[in-house]
Amino acid sequence: MVSIKKISKSLKYVGKQLFINNVDCENIIKIHKTPIYCYSLTEIIGNYNNFYKSLEKLNPLICYAVKANFNKEIIKILGKLGSGADVVSKGELKLALDSGISPNKIVFSGVGKTKEEIIYALKKKIFQINVESEEELEEINNLAVNKKTLVNISLRVNPDVDANTHKKITTGRSDDKFGIPISKVVEIFKRKNDYSNLKIDGIAIHIGSQITKIDPFKNAFEKIRKLILRLEKNKIHIKNLDLGGGIGINYFENQVISLKKYSSIIKKEFGRMNLKLIFEPGRSIVGSAGFIISKVIRVKKGLGKNFLILDVGMNDLMRPSLYESYHHIIPMKKLNRKKRNYDIVGPVCESSDIFGSNRDLNEVESGDYLVLCSAGAYGSCMSSNYNCRPLIKEIVVNDSDFFKS
Ligand SMILES: Cc1ncc(COP(=O)(O)O)c(C=O)c1O
Repeated sequence: MVSIKKISKSLKYVGKQLFINNVDCENIIKIHKTPIYCYSLTEIIGNYNNFYKSLEKLNPLICYAVKANFNKEIIKILGKLGSGADVVSKGELKLALDSGISPNKIVFSGVGKTKEEIIYALKKKIFQINVESEEELEEINNLAVNKKTLVNISLRVNPDVDANTHKKITTGRSDDKFGIPISKVVEIFKRKNDYSNLKIDGIAIHIGSQITKIDPFKNAFEKIRKLILRLEKNKIHIKNLDLGGGIGINYFENQVISLKKYSSIIKKEFGRMNLKLIFEPGRSIVGSAGFIISKVIRVKKGLGKNFLILDVGMNDLMRPSLYESYHHIIPMKKLNRKKRNYDIVGPVCESSDIFGSNRDLNEVESGDYLVLCSAGAYGSCMSSNYNCRPLIKEIVVNDSDFFKS
C-alpha cells in the first residue's frame, strides 16, 4: 500500500486504527452516520501557511478560491489567517462576507456574471471584478454609472497556453471560453477611459487546475510579463496582477510543483515590477485535507470481478466519474487479512459511479469502513441529490476534537 503520509499529513494508523490528526475515525462514526466528509483544519492551515510563506517577500494578497470547498468553517479559518476570497457567484460572495472575509480582499471571477450578481458586487464594494469579455466591461460600466459608483477591474487574459492537465479543467487555451484573447488586451487598455466608472488597471490569468508541471505556468507568466511591458510602452501602468490558482496535488504518486520553484519564477518575472500580486489557490489549500468515511454496504461477487459497494456515491464525490480521477482508498481498520482485488463502486444507478478499479486491499467484508482520500477540493461543493440521495454531512477535525459544520 502507498505510504499514507504522501497522501495527507493528517493521516496515520495508530495500531490498527486510522486517525485524522488526533481523532480516531472510529469515534467519528460512533456519533455520525456515513458517508461523511471530514476536513483537517490543521492540514488546511499548514497548506495555507506554506503557500503564503513561499510568496511572503512579494507581499501577496491570497484570495482562497471558494469554489474548491465552500465549507464555512474552512473559509472562516482561512480568513483569520489573512486570506481573502476568489468568488464566482453571488452565493459565494455572500458566503465569503458572512464568513468574515473583508470586501476589500474579495475578487469576483467568472465568465457569466449576471446583472444581479454584478449589482450585488458593486453594492458590497469588493476589491475587484475580473472581467472576461468586452461585452461584460460594457455591462459593468453601465451598471456602475447607474449606481454612481467606481469599481476596480482586472482584465482576465487568455494567454493561449495549454496547462497540460485534464481537458475539462484547462482554461487558458484560445479555444477555451475563458478570458480575453491576449492579442486584444493592449487595444482595450488604450480605450479604458471610455468606461467612465471602471478603474481598469489590473490583469488576471488562470490557466487551469491540477497543474503538475511548472512549464505551463512559466510560459503563461512570460507572456504576461511581455504584455505588461508592451502596455508600459503605451504609458499604461498595471497596478494589480492576479495570477490565479491551479497548483496540483498528489492524488496518485503524481509529480507536484515545488512551491519554491513556482515562487522563484514569479519573483523572476514580476518581482521588480511594483505590482500588487494576487493569487487564487483552491485545491492546493484544501484538497489533501479532506476525506470521506464510507461503509461497505455489500461485497458482490461478479463473474470476473469482486465489487465493493459503498454507501458513498458519485453524487457525493463526482471527480472520478467526471474526470476519471484517482483517489486513494484505504481501510479505516487495518486488518491482517488476505489480499483481494476489487472494483470499488457506489450505489448510484450509473456505470460511471465507480471510485476505483482493480484495487488491491486486505479482504473487505460488508459493514467494514473505507476512507476515500484527497477529497477536500471539488468534492462536497460539487455534490448533488441525484437518485434523491440526501447531501452528506461534513465535520471538521481540529487536532483531537471534531465538530459538525
Ligand atoms: C478563476 C479561477 N481561479 C482560481 C481557481 C482555483 O484553482 P485551483 O483550485 O486549481 O487552485 C479556479 C478553478 O479552476 C478558477 O477558475
